[in-house]
Amino acid sequence: MSSEVIEFFNVVFRFAHVIAAIMWIGDSLLFVWMEQNLIKDEKDPKSLGRMNMLHGGGVFYLQKRVLDPLNLPKPLHVFKWQSYTTWLTGFTLLVSTFYTRSGTLLLDPSKTDLVGWQASVISFVSLVLFWVIYDQVWQSPLKKYPVVAVGVLVAVFLLYANWINGFFNGRFVYLQLGVMLATTMTANVFLRIIPNQKKFMKELAEGKPHNLEYGRQAKLRSMMNHYVTFPVIFLMLSSHAPVTYGDDHNLLIMCIIIFGLVVIKWMMNLYHSFSEWVYVAIATFVLCTFGVVGVKSLPAPITEGPPMSAMAESGQKVFNNKGCMACHQPVDSSIAPSLHGLYMTERELATGEMILADEAYIEESILYSNKKVAKGYAPAMPGFAGVLSDEEVAELTEYIKFLAQN
Ligand code: HEC
Repeated sequence: MSSEVIEFFNVVFRFAHVIAAIMWIGDSLLFVWMEQNLIKDEKDPKSLGRMNMLHGGGVFYLQKRVLDPLNLPKPLHVFKWQSYTTWLTGFTLLVSTFYTRSGTLLLDPSKTDLVGWQASVISFVSLVLFWVIYDQVWQSPLKKYPVVAVGVLVAVFLLYANWINGFFNGRFVYLQLGVMLATTMTANVFLRIIPNQKKFMKELAEGKPHNLEYGRQAKLRSMMNHYVTFPVIFLMLSSHAPVTYGDDHNLLIMCIIIFGLVVIKWMMNLYHSFSEWVYVAIATFVLCTFGVVGVKSLPAPITEGPPMSAMAESGQKVFNNKGCMACHQPVDSSIAPSLHGLYMTERELATGEMILADEAYIEESILYSNKKVAKGYAPAMPGFAGVLSDEEVAELTEYIKFLAQN
């Protein structure tokens, strides 16, 4: 198959993946919302709560009930394929896009000597192992102390993140963590939630009463899934945000963002019972945003090399202030090439032509970026002619030259 055909299949799978994920997450958000807003029904002992919803020109009357074995409803809708389809299409993409090019897309050659297939094996085995650990924790006596159980899992997650950060590139570190959490979510549905539902439905069919304990266990897993949804969406979309994964303190930034997203989701769930929810959510957003900005202004870890000249230092300021760093990160991303080590190397252009990345090339790239487009990238860089002064361009060039020595 030609690479263009494969690329087209990737587009199709990505589209299916996004649609399935929207349906799945949408279900999760809606069901938890309904759960939280049910009104207790004192008069009817079989009722677990009810509500009315106005939509589509009518009122949906919804009631959550204890089932009567003699009167099982038909048809009964079960929600699982949204989750399975999301995982199957996502895993296909992981293999077809990443594992087939694992040397370049998974690893960071400046950090490791591992080779591509080893990286793919580590990535895949981790998905399985993390699920096993997660599941064991929730089956162990720790499940009686959910705060401790969550604490243990967060610690495992962070230690693992720190470990893979030592050989995967920043972009794949985030993606791997997102895939790992999402795999746990689907495994929860496939191996715990749906089997539990089947068990009590089977008992009901045998005429036994509705065992609510199975439901309680399934609900705990569903709630876990629910709180992980926002962080997973962030991690999955993070390849569009090199400003997060490309930072020297990428893990710290990720922790702040995930913490913020979980607290915000929690507040959204409390909106009926806690009148200040919106203020806490906004305060969390503001604090976390400042947190990320604060981390981004931390100095980079000291690397050996010649000190920066005053002119290169001014160039660094222009680089940060004019938004270059939004696209250009210390490592190549899908958005833009890294400028570290560019100066005086041979550059292949989209036309196939080879060119030496000297001062003239760098200056032209900044001013009229689309005149010569680097191979493998879209002509996405705005031209800076008329935006930057001659002095600023010279300073930027000096800074980019400095980056080549570090
Ligand atoms: C919107 C994203 C974006 C922004 C902002 C941006 N660039 Fe780029 N830049 C790119 C992309 C994509 C390429 C590769 C395609 C090309 O050569 O035009 C590139 C290429 C370059 C190159 C040539 C690199 C090579 O490997 O050949 C240089 C030098 C450069 N940019 C410098 C800068 C500077 C300096 C700034 C800030 C003043 C800046 N860029 C802002 C996206 C961006």
